[in-house]
Amino acid sequence: MASSSSPRTMRAVQYDRYGGGAEGLKVRTPVHGTNRLDVQTRTHLTDSPVHFQHVEVPIPSPKKGELLLRMEAASINRVDWKFQNGKARPFLPSKFPFTPVCELAGEVVELGAGVSGFSQGDKVIAVNFPGGGGLAEYAVVPASQAALRPPEVSAVEGACLPIAAFTALAALRAAGVGLDAGDGRPKNVLVTAASGGVGTFAVQLASLAGHHHVTATCGARNLDLIRSLGADEALDYDTPEGAALRGPSGPKHDAVVHCGEGFPWSAFKPALADAGGVVVDLTPRLASVAVAVLHWVLFSRKKLVPLIASAKEEDMEALLGMVSQGKLRVVIDSRYPLSRAHEGWAKSMSGHATGKVVVDMGVADDTE
Ligand SMILES: NC(=O)c1ccc[n+]([C@@H]2O[C@H](COP(=O)([O-])OP(=O)(O)OC[C@H]3O[C@@H](n4cnc5c(N)ncnc54)[C@H](OP(=O)(O)O)[C@@H]3O)[C@@H](O)[C@H]2O)c1
Repeated sequence: MASSSSPRTMRAVQYDRYGGGAEGLKVRTPVHGTNRLDVQTRTHLTDSPVHFQHVEVPIPSPKKGELLLRMEAASINRVDWKFQNGKARPFLPSKFPFTPVCELAGEVVELGAGVSGFSQGDKVIAVNFPGGGGLAEYAVVPASQAALRPPEVSAVEGACLPIAAFTALAALRAAGVGLDAGDGRPKNVLVTAASGGVGTFAVQLASLAGHHHVTATCGARNLDLIRSLGADEALDYDTPEGAALRGPSGPKHDAVVHCGEGFPWSAFKPALADAGGVVVDLTPRLASVAVAVLHWVLFSRKKLVPLIASAKEEDMEALLGMVSQGKLRVVIDSRYPLSRAHEGWAKSMSGHATGKVVVDMGVADDTE
């Protein structure tokens, strides 16, 4: 439990309204214990005009079934800034000001009523979706969406697993790809946008089983990285074969983990195995859901399957185990202290991160 002498307010990065991108993020610092530098003085520390404000943000209290974490790291996902863009307006965020970021690692400092299996001092990884809260010194998470982090896995690595790595795992499962050696028949697997946060995990998880042929699309600068993660073929998305989603002599695909955005179904159909293939769409839109329903109704051999993944404790534990055994590598694009979270936000919004963008509370902060 946070002791009575602990500060009851905390630093947090928040936004107050829809839109605004990285510049809409505000660094809120408690009045006590900080230098009263004004906004203009602080903005020179960063490349964009982020606002530092002395606003008391209360440390949240864990409700029934929740854990209060002292944050160690949080990893930014596209969904975080899509909420800010108003993608789920008017439902999410449920209120302003909002503290974003749902993929977290931290130390348990307080347990809500009815929580078992965790103790104060435990290091955990967790998802708090869609509630967020990760860009702060403290955050509450549902205990049901948390898992113990072993010491061999760093907080930064751990913070990249519960959404990104789990989504890759869930997508491969949804596509019917066996994930253990000898599990199911060998498949030709395609991962699109393989250099991103989800794709870097999907390539590795598909390759780890050892019996699948893995093709991946990425930009030219990341071809070697993607091969090093286990892809049998890496296709530059700016070449004709990249656009066709298939090498000239490469196989047609049985399973596709589609991490890219904005491809119509017609782009996949010719690249799928004649006997049938599954495309798991990680960014379902109305049009793709309509296509998926049609495929389901018509018992199509070539199918689009929309997926929204939600991690379970045992899956997070399995992923942590793979990282701690050195089987699964966490590719980090960049790390930022809390006061520069807006730079990570901008990097994620650029669509050109290679691996994960992490806010690391252990990095020395400009505002200290
Ligand atoms: N359904 C769910 O539960 C769930 C959960 C997590 C994420 N998602 C979704 O999954 C998708 C992937 O997320 P992410 O975090 O991996 O994204 P990300 O990290 O932002 O992806 C960035 C990467 O995509 C590459 N890329 C962009 N356009 C490409 C193209 N046309 N072909 C090949 N590569 C391309 C970029 O390469 P360059 O820099 O070289 O251009 C960059 O390395 C997103 O749409 C996200 O919203 C869904």
